[in-house]
Amino acid sequence: MFRSVVMGCGAYLPAKTVTNADLAGIVETSDDWIAQRTGIRERHIAGDEEKTSDLALAAATRALDVAGIDGSDIDLIILATTTADQTFPATAVRVQKALGMYAGAAFDIQAVCSGFVYALAVADNFLKVGQAKRALVIGAETFSRILDWTDRGTCVLFGDGAGAVVLEARSEAEAGGRGIISTHLHSDGRFQDILYVDGGPSSTGTVGKLRMNGKEVFRHAVQKLADVVDETLAANGLSADDINWLVPHQANQRIIDSTAKKLGLPIERVVSTIARHGNTSAASIPLALADAVGDGRIRQGDLVLTEAMGGGLTWGAALLRW
Ligand code: UT7
Repeated sequence: MFRSVVMGCGAYLPAKTVTNADLAGIVETSDDWIAQRTGIRERHIAGDEEKTSDLALAAATRALDVAGIDGSDIDLIILATTTADQTFPATAVRVQKALGMYAGAAFDIQAVCSGFVYALAVADNFLKVGQAKRALVIGAETFSRILDWTDRGTCVLFGDGAGAVVLEARSEAEAGGRGIISTHLHSDGRFQDILYVDGGPSSTGTVGKLRMNGKEVFRHAVQKLADVVDETLAANGLSADDINWLVPHQANQRIIDSTAKKLGLPIERVVSTIARHGNTSAASIPLALADAVGDGRIRQGDLVLTEAMGGGLTWGAALLRW
């Protein structure tokens, strides 16, 4: 068995930012309400010509640069997204072509806000058994395209962006303790109606818009994230004291605070980008990772715990030694 070791990570955010005050000009809301209920101050929104694959490619290119390799050195691309460029082909194959990566496989994963954790888990399983040598795991979204801009309950929450990590399969000896330690995935389709898009190729023939029962989603998030974090620590015989960094999905600062509090983890060891990014769905964890690695908070050898919950419901966690 091999270990999946992170070689590098990268991120991309569209240039345009939209503040809470800007949104107050579109729907009946206020900077105060959004900031107090969610922690969000602003979000990035893709330009008219920018597609999910463009964001993904920019993040992937940065991650490959940091790793010191190029597209031809990888043999697996897994792209987590809910906002694909087209119904098919997979957005991953557009990135594959642009990177000049012709060996192996590229495909998308759809687990909404849990997409990056799902993609990490799948990539880890490919690498562990030797089915791929180097993987690019990307979370990329243009959620602005599926928002109902007249619904103040949802349009203020989300943003666009992309993040990526490069993983390499290394022997235990080569890994030196680094790499993905465990991943834990869950879903429960009974809750599909509290967070969904009201369109699709096989139902309405339209793309549709995001619909959410925010209060219910919030309630599930607080409980399920606490549970999956406990499950991850217990599976590895660890306690919160062992964790250097919690890198949560960025949906709401109150959910993040609740998870940290239940864990007994000081907020200084929690990476939060929600004020600047909003909820970027599958992109939020790799964006936060790139942020904290970029400014020197996360260092090689640190124990990093990530977790997410999203539509499905889907949820999960991944523990890795950076
Ligand atoms: O990524 C995973 C998916 N998403 C999440 O995890 C999100 C989970 N949910 C949440 O973060 C929160 O439930 C929200 C931020 C969406 C909403 O916060 P809340 O504290 O649950 O508010 P609420 O939905 O209960 O609404 C409270 C009030 C309502 O007014 P009334 O009925 O009390 O008069 C809403 O109409 O706030 C109103 N409201 C707003 N007011 C100003 C809802 N959205 C807004 C808004 N600006 N943007």
